This record gives sequence, structure tokens and C-alpha cells, in this order.
Amino acid sequence: MTLQNDLLIRAAKGEKTERVPVWLMRQAGRILPEYRAVRSSVSGFIELAKTPELAAEVTIQPVDLLGVDAAIIFSDILVIPEAMGLPYQMVEKKGPWFENTVSSTSDLAKIHLAEPEQDLSYVLDAIKITKKELNGRVPLIGFAGAPWTIFSYMVEGAGSKTFSKAKKMLYAEPELSHQLLQMITESTIRYLKAQIEAGADLIQIFDSWAGILSPEQYDTFGLKYISQICNAINDVPVTVFAKGAFFARKRMGTLNCETIGLDWNMSVSASRRLIGDSKTLQGNLDPCVLYSSDEEIEKRTIQMLEAFGGHKHIANLGHGVYPDIHPDKVKVFIETVKNWRA
Ligand code: CP3
Repeated sequence: MTLQNDLLIRAAKGEKTERVPVWLMRQAGRILPEYRAVRSSVSGFIELAKTPELAAEVTIQPVDLLGVDAAIIFSDILVIPEAMGLPYQMVEKKGPWFENTVSSTSDLAKIHLAEPEQDLSYVLDAIKITKKELNGRVPLIGFAGAPWTIFSYMVEGAGSKTFSKAKKMLYAEPELSHQLLQMITESTIRYLKAQIEAGADLIQIFDSWAGILSPEQYDTFGLKYISQICNAINDVPVTVFAKGAFFARKRMGTLNCETIGLDWNMSVSASRRLIGDSKTLQGNLDPCVLYSSDEEIEKRTIQMLEAFGGHKHIANLGHGVYPDIHPDKVKVFIETVKNWRA
């Protein structure tokens, strides 16, 4: 199937595009009343994600309702721990929670590598249905969490401000940590290959907790494994988004990937200098700008576009859109990008 709108793919590959493509992290979700309606028809987030027809429906909603240049498959990064033997729950207003965690060699013996065709077939089916229903309108982004971020949840068992239990394990049990990170990495490579096989046109790796590690730890326990993933995925462009990892930008410039995601703390010019000219950059408007007036959103979006220069850029926010942002504000951001020319 040829894509009618392939701006995202061409921009990721560094090709010149007529305009800058735009999508939003967390675009499929609670900002849309249409999403909340579908979600209230099932028991909760996990059932929605495990019902491929509904997952496909909410994946496509932002394409129809917001006019973004890409869809991102509706799922979660936590499906990998579950596929490895640690099921999770999504607790209303609190976030993810795991009954079992990994903190010892005997815990490690109880988990296994993910078998995507068996354990994650619901995601693969959702991708196939979405691709069919999109009918080539825009590319579909597949994704996974980076090993360090997945490790954090598998050790901690829930969200945390500091993830100090996960960090403690890196210092106290480096060997065990590497074993777990390697198992996550291999599971993730299998999973991403299966997503591409099912139809994903681009892959994004989310390292949401990159910024809590020291530069040295991030080299040893973070980038080492991201680099294995990048080397294993060659059929579609790969984006690495390591939130808060300003200290690792130079190393990220050497990863075997096409695009690096920036958060809003990273200045565009310094990022370009550190990462080099070869990669496309994605980002990086502060999500909170979308709480301001339409004029202010327009002004700051244009400032951002000018800073990136209109080439080798995929417009996005610097992190996921917050659930209480009005969809009209998101539209102002999207329309501003679409109307701007370098
Ligand atoms: O639109 C999209 O971006 C696609 C779907 C997507 C979800 N989660 C759906 C979701 C993606 C790409 C993710 C990634 C994800 N999940 C990350 C990495 C990105 C980031 O934000 O840093 C992380 C750390 C998670 C783990 C996670 N999932 C948490 C901490 C939570 C609870 C907090 C929250 O936002 O509610 C989730 C739940 C979740 N994942 C929801 C959605 C739509 C909300 C569930 C609901 O409908 O109530």
C-alpha cells in the first residue's frame, strides 16, 4: 500500500518535504471526548487496548479529528513486562501497578522472553486493522519503551517520582540489572520486528525515565541497550525519544537511528550542534503552551518551527499532550505547523 501522505517518513529519512509533518505524543487518548466515549464502553484502558477493533478505532480518531500527519498505535509500553510474565493493572487516577516485580535472581528465573505472536497478538491485530482502515492516508507509528524505562517499572512495580528502587538495583546488583535489561532488549526487538511485519511504518522508542540517570549510568544501562535495538531494526525509520537526556545528546547522534526526539528543555541549536547534521529532530514545544491563548500558541509554535529551520524536522510537543488540554488548542498547534513554510 503506498502512502498518500508520507511526509513523516520522508522527513525521518532526512529528505526535503513540502512542509514540516506534525503529530503529538499521546494524541490517542483522554483529550478527545470521542476517545472517552469508546473507553467508557469497556471496563478500562487494558480491555480497550486488548480489543483490536476498538484499539484501531481510537488510533484513527486523531487523524480524523485533529488532522495529524501520523497515527500511533493505541497500546502501552507496559505490554512488554506483561508478555514477559509480569501482568499489570491500570489503577484509575494512580497509573500502572504490578503485583509481582523483579528484585532478585529467583525473580528473574520466573520471567521469560516475550513471544509477540502469542503474547502480543492483540497489538499486532490492532496494527493490521488500523493499516487497513487508514487505507494509506497517513503512516502508522509503532512503539515500545526503552529497556531502562521498562526495567524501572518491572523493578519498582508502579510509577514513582524518583524510581530510586530501580536506580538502587543498578548500583547494588549491576550483573542482575544487565541480565534483566538484556532480556527486555531481546523481547523488545522481537516485538518491534513483529509490529513492522504487521504494518508499522516507523518505530518510536520511549525512554521516559532517561533523565533520572547520571550520564555514566545512562551510557552503561540505557544507551547500550537502545543501541542494540537500533542496530536490529533496519526496515523502517527509528525515532529515539529519551526524555531529560540532555547530557547524552552527543552519544545519541551516533546511534543507528534516523530521528532523535527532543524535550522542551533542550535548545534546538545546541541539540543540532551536539547531535550533528545527519539526524532528523522531533519536537519540542512545551506541552503547557497549549494552555495559553490561540495567538500565543501560534507565536510560540512559529518560533519553534523557525528554530528547527523547516528541514529534518518533525513537529511535536516535548512530551505527551496533557489530558485536560482542549482539542481546539491542539488544532491551533497543528494548523500553525501545517500553514508554515520555511
Ligand atoms: O497516543 C499515543 O501516544 C499512543 C498510546 C500510548 C499510551 N501510552 C496510551 C495510554 C503511548 C505511546 C504510551 C506510552 C507510555 N506509557 C509511556 C511513554 C511515554 C511517556 O508518556 O513518557 C509511559 C511512561 C507509559 C506508562 C503509562 N501508561 C503510565 C505512567 C500511565 C498512567 C498515567 C496516565 O497518563 O494515565 C499510562 C496509561 C495510559 N497509556 C493511558 C493512555 C491513553 C491512560 C489510560 C486511560 O485511558 O485512563
